[in-house]
Order: sequence, then structure tokens, then C-alpha cells
Amino acid sequence: MEKSSGFSRDGAGNLDQTLRPQSWDEYIGQDKTKENLRILLTAARERGHAAEHILLYGPPGLGKTTLAHLIAKTLGTNMRTTSGPAIERVGDLAAILTNLSPGDVLFIDEIHRLSKSIEEVLYPAMESGVLDIIIGKGPSARTVQLELPPFTLVAATTRISLLSAPLRSRFSGGTFRLEFYSEGEIAKILTRSAELLDISTNEEIMNDIATRCRATPRTANYLLKRCRDLAQLEGTNLSHEVVDRTFTLLEIDVLGLGSPDRAVLEAIVHKFNGGPVGLNTIAAATGEEQSTIEDVIEPYLIRQGLLERTPRGRIASALAYAHLEDIGK
Ligand SMILES: Nc1ncnc2c1ncn2[C@@H]1O[C@H](COP(=O)(O)OP(=O)(O)OP(=O)(O)O)[C@@H](O)[C@H]1O
Ligand SMILES: [Mg+2]
Repeated sequence: MEKSSGFSRDGAGNLDQTLRPQSWDEYIGQDKTKENLRILLTAARERGHAAEHILLYGPPGLGKTTLAHLIAKTLGTNMRTTSGPAIERVGDLAAILTNLSPGDVLFIDEIHRLSKSIEEVLYPAMESGVLDIIIGKGPSARTVQLELPPFTLVAATTRISLLSAPLRSRFSGGTFRLEFYSEGEIAKILTRSAELLDISTNEEIMNDIATRCRATPRTANYLLKRCRDLAQLEGTNLSHEVVDRTFTLLEIDVLGLGSPDRAVLEAIVHKFNGGPVGLNTIAAATGEEQSTIEDVIEPYLIRQGLLERTPRGRIASALAYAHLEDIGK
């Protein structure tokens, strides 16, 4: 029921859910991954077996969680969701695994944050579908094996490098890297979202926004909503002018970089002579967490050819110098 304040939850909290693709057709791009998954999942479904375990990795907001939902939907099973940091004790994982129904998808987000001891319980569960439980302590301790229902683990991570080799090797269904999206793909995503949000717009404006979305669907949807907000306050339709002003207000430049992105580039160029400079030094100079720089900021800068990662540290490219000069920094 709507509250008397007039706010409806559909307007905000459920918006992400509204925009999340519900079918493979609505899931734009990532064609190779989609094709490989289609074969894997269809074959498993036809055989009447649980599909093999799948690992999805790539920068935030590229569609890993969305893909996990589509995988479960395609298999026609339920999806249980948890995350690395939520599984604190071996017992937490045991409870989740023993409560699965045959064929279920277990989605573990941020799997790189699982502790070693929990990883070790996961290995036999993934490999042979058993749970090894240790009963007792010291010399009298013994292991009891519990048979688990067949299940498919779908795991997601932004940091594949933090996964141990034994864990990585157990994703027998495949490891898939999600790629940044082309401007054309982002424009398609924006067009679909605009329709769902009842925003009247045209192709040119969608293309205009698409150039500055960090090649990321989540950012695209966020920026579309911010442009819509400004248009609404001004009682106009979405226009190039509204889009431009929204981006200026949010301090997003022509390449889609926000102030944290520029701060990293500026630090490397102005304080460290273009590099090479270590990650911890950049973190100290900008006040950003190292993990934020590695997970969120760097992948896009590298993709745009503004930054290079070398064994001796990070280096700003000639393009980075040109871009900072263009925008007067
Ligand atoms: N391929 C796609 N086509 C259309 N929309 C997409 C696509 N991928 C993602 N989106 C949109 O972007 C939003 C963010 O995607 P999602 O939550 O799946 O990203 P994620 O990779 O799980 O991010 P994180 O690493 O932060 O968990 C979704 O709610 C959806 O609306
Ligand atoms: Mg996610």
C-alpha cells in the first residue's frame, strides 16, 4: 500500500529490479558468453542434470548478477543467493548447501572474499557433491560425509586474481569474463530503460548519453535517471541541453570520467611525472582505497587507453596527458 506521503516504493527501491533484463533477448551484448552459456545450460537441461559450476568475473555493473538470474531461469530452477562476506563460518555454508533442492542454482557473489577454511569445504561439495563434516576434536576427530543434492554453483567476482588456483579450477562449466560494452550496446540498453521508465527521447540523445557511461550498463541506467530528473524539474523533455547540464553537474567529462577517475590520472601525471608509480602510492595521493582503484577506477582507464599497468607500476599514456589538457586540468 502506498504511504500517505505519496512516495511509492516502485519509484526508487524496485527500479533496479524493473530495469534488470528478464530474458536473454533483453540482455544486450556479451555475445560469446551468452552463446557458450546457452549451449552449456540447454545441454544440461536436456540431460536432466544440474549444470556444471560457472564463474563470472569482471568490473562492477557489467551484468554478473543479472546473468546468474538468467542462468537459473534457463535451467528452470530456484536460485539461492549469498555472498563471500556473508559466509563467516563453515556451519553457514553447510546450512546453505544442505538446504538446496536438487538442481538449484547457488549464487555466491564476491566469492573472492571467502575464507580459506570455507573454500576447503566448498571443494569436495563442488567436485563430488559431498560435505565433509569433522566431528570431535584432536586424535578422536573423524570425518563424516554427507551427500548433497546436485546443484550448480554460479559465482561472481570483480577480482579473479584473488581466487586460489584450486578454487578456480573447480568451475568445470567454465569461467567467463564480462567485457565492457560498446557505445551501440549501451545506447540499446538506454533505449530499453527509457521505454520502461516512460521517458520520451530519441536515438541521438541516447547516443549522446551512451558516450559517457563508462561502457557500463549500471552507470548508463543511473545517468539516464539523473538526466530524467533534471528534465522533470524543468518541465521539459530530455534534450541534448539537459543531458549536457546533467553531466556538468555530476562532473562527468566527455570520456565519461568522474572526479575520482580524473584524480587518479592527475596524481600520476602531475605528482609522479606520468609514472611508473605503485598502487599504494596512488591510493595515498588520492585518498581512494586501493581496492576501489583496482576494481572500479583502473579497468575503465585502461580500457580507454589512458593508463597502463606495468610490472614497475602504473603509467599515464600520451592520451591521458592530452585528455587532461583538453579539459583544462
Ligand atoms: N547485458 C545487459 N543488458 C541490459 N542491461 C544490463 C545488462 N547488464 C546489466 N544490465 C543492467 O545493469 C544493472 C547492473 O547489473 P548487475 O547488477 O548484473 O551487475 P554486476 O556485474 O552484478 O555488478 P556488481 O559487480 O557490482 O555486483 C542491472 O540491474 C541491469 O539493469
Ligand atoms: Mg552483482
